[in-house]
Amino acid sequence: MKALYLTGFMGAGKTTIGKELATFLNLPVIDTDQQIEEKYQKPVSQIFADQGETTFREYETKILKELPTENVVITTGGGIVLKKENREWMRETGLIIFLKTDLEVILQRLENDESRPLAQNKSKLELSELLKSRLPYYNDCTLTLDTTHKSINEIVEEIIGRIK
Ligand code: S3P
Repeated sequence: MKALYLTGFMGAGKTTIGKELATFLNLPVIDTDQQIEEKYQKPVSQIFADQGETTFREYETKILKELPTENVVITTGGGIVLKKENREWMRETGLIIFLKTDLEVILQRLENDESRPLAQNKSKLELSELLKSRLPYYNDCTLTLDTTHKSINEIVEEIIGRIK
């Protein structure tokens, strides 16, 4: 099976759903942010603070291309879709699954979140603008799943039903 890439905005539940999906399919799950943190020995927030977003995006692309592309669930950082190069890579090597979640739910989840540099000190309006600016990239995916009113089990079942 080709790689299953979970994409979506910060707070969409990619990591949680990725773990459940991988367990159900009996596949390993790899998280791009976690891989970056291990390789560069720094939390993502520290990379943003020390090197800036451009360098983080370079690390992200490098990591993405080093990951296995068969029989694996890959949970991605919310901004991975920004680069055409990344989108093309994911499309060529796997299925891109967009976890679509209502803005209100995302805003609730991101409130008081200190681990995500791009969610820091941002108003609701700014976050909604950021999400809106990314929607065309998220929508350029293999399949979209609206996760807003579903349980994790329901989401996993739906993904499995739709990839078979
Ligand atoms: C980012 C999302 C984060 C992380 C980094 C940048 C983004 O991952 O990659 O802080 O640009 O949306 P999550 O989507 O897992 O929060």
